[in-house]
Amino acid sequence: MLARLNFTKAYGTKHSEIDREHQDIFAFVNELAAAIDKGRRSKCQKQLYKLAEKFKTHLHKEILHLQYSGYRDTGLHMRHHREIAEKMKNHCNNCQGDCDKTSANKCHEIITSIILDEIIDSDHHFIDHFQRRTAHEHDGPSPQMARQRNIQT
Ligand SMILES: [Fe+2]
Ligand SMILES: [Fe+2]
Repeated sequence: MLARLNFTKAYGTKHSEIDREHQDIFAFVNELAAAIDKGRRSKCQKQLYKLAEKFKTHLHKEILHLQYSGYRDTGLHMRHHREIAEKMKNHCNNCQGDCDKTSANKCHEIITSIILDEIIDSDHHFIDHFQRRTAHEHDGPSPQMARQRNIQT
């Protein structure tokens, strides 16, 4: 059985909405792992595409939060997001949906590495920024985020 991701405090970014998104992404990865474990290849391809879509939306929303809150390294973070989004896209394009167990497990390993690269290696750079900021003001959604959410609902 593939290992599942467990969202603990250690993954926290000091921004509640970004943390919720990261938790959702972990849940999507775990659903992918479950589909692979059950040998349901068509389901796991669908789950991979759903995860990729969720991830893309997350990368976009996170940049809005960083911009709105005045994070000074937003440009650098955007560059990282572009690279990681490209990796995810290439990975999805390679999925044939009919691979064997070994390839499916490798797929899960690559996805986990992309996700952890974003949530741990990359996003930990802005924890101090939100920690300082939340000491002075709340970390609620930006007006752009609120508008976007209203449009989506
Ligand atoms: Fe993130
Ligand atoms: Fe990020």
